[in-house]
Amino acid sequence: MYKLLKTEGRAKRGEFQTVHGTIQTPVFMNVATVAAIKGAVSTEDLEGIKNQVVLCNTYHLHLRPGDDNVYRMGGLHKFMSCNKPILTDSGGFQVFSLAKTRRIKEEGVYFHSHIDGHKLFMGPEESMRIQSHLGSTIAMAFDECPSARADHEYVQMSVDRTTRWLERCKKEMDRLNSLPDTVNPHQMLFGINQGAIFDDIRIEHAKRIREMDLDGYAVGGLAVGETHEEMYHVLEQVVPYLPQDKPTYLMGVGTPANILEGVERGIDFFDCVYPSRNGRHGHVYTKKGKLNLLNARFELDSHPIEEGCQCPACKRYSRGYIRHLLKAGEMLGMRLCVLHNLYFYNNMMEEIRDALDNGNFAAYKKKTLDGFREYEE
Ligand code: GUN
Ligand code: ZN
Repeated sequence: MYKLLKTEGRAKRGEFQTVHGTIQTPVFMNVATVAAIKGAVSTEDLEGIKNQVVLCNTYHLHLRPGDDNVYRMGGLHKFMSCNKPILTDSGGFQVFSLAKTRRIKEEGVYFHSHIDGHKLFMGPEESMRIQSHLGSTIAMAFDECPSARADHEYVQMSVDRTTRWLERCKKEMDRLNSLPDTVNPHQMLFGINQGAIFDDIRIEHAKRIREMDLDGYAVGGLAVGETHEEMYHVLEQVVPYLPQDKPTYLMGVGTPANILEGVERGIDFFDCVYPSRNGRHGHVYTKKGKLNLLNARFELDSHPIEEGCQCPACKRYSRGYIRHLLKAGEMLGMRLCVLHNLYFYNNMMEEIRDALDNGNFAAYKKKTLDGFREYEE
């Protein structure tokens, strides 16, 4: 159940109740693709970085350790000892981006595993069954994410098929939720809007999926090669056609600036690998922009990554020490950078929520974006 608490222009401040607790939005979901946040970050660590929701992947967990195994271990929450909401992506996107030699048919997608090459099939029903085994809080619909460069005719054909797949997802999810041995009988389903950068296809699709009365609505197929301006344009076109009293989710986005622009255009949920991936490379976020801790100028720097930051890295360690760890190839160096970056993202979301509560999001956004430019000049 989503409660719209406040608006500022199109920006939404909301609250989303789930069986695993209430999510305050706008929110960033911390990415744990294979049921682990890359960079040796544990479920316990999530408490110190203001995490609200974790995102795991159907495709990866189906291949390894196998959703049957997770089911036999009591579902994803028990398996990874997590009592917070978990969203699972459907596998659609990963089949298209990772799998080799995929063939898309009406029934689903035939592909080869990126781990050992063996032949696999996934369609809407398989994706729902896997996600039901995992028992996530929120399951995503099985979709096709067409290339940003695909032509109008292909995208129209693809989106029509994605709509038919969504009808099959909903039917299968309803059936699975009513079975006696389901891990999470309250599992929710979010639909995904597609249509590349074609306004007419995006809007028509938004209208069709809105009628299906799902638990939430994602905007997919973005951050896949189009420009930032094209992405913002799509959001301006599509979000007005999605229900305001349901959560909206911009999949796979993005930089802190992209998130601020997304919130302004009405998005509640975000997820991105940037903070963890950048952290593993020693690139850390600050209010003044990104720093590369491998840079020689940090060798004798006794300041924390960011003065005043309350993350587990900044409360205790210096830039100089973390730089040394990274240089020495110690895992702790990566870990501290990832913890800082995730805290930075989750803390920015908290500041965004506070700004919306106080009716000064526009001013907060401008001040924050101006701040990010300092190190770039
Ligand atoms: N993650 C980022 N973009 C997408 C998308 O378009 N579909 C799905 N399922 N996941 C995504
Ligand atoms: Zn920090």
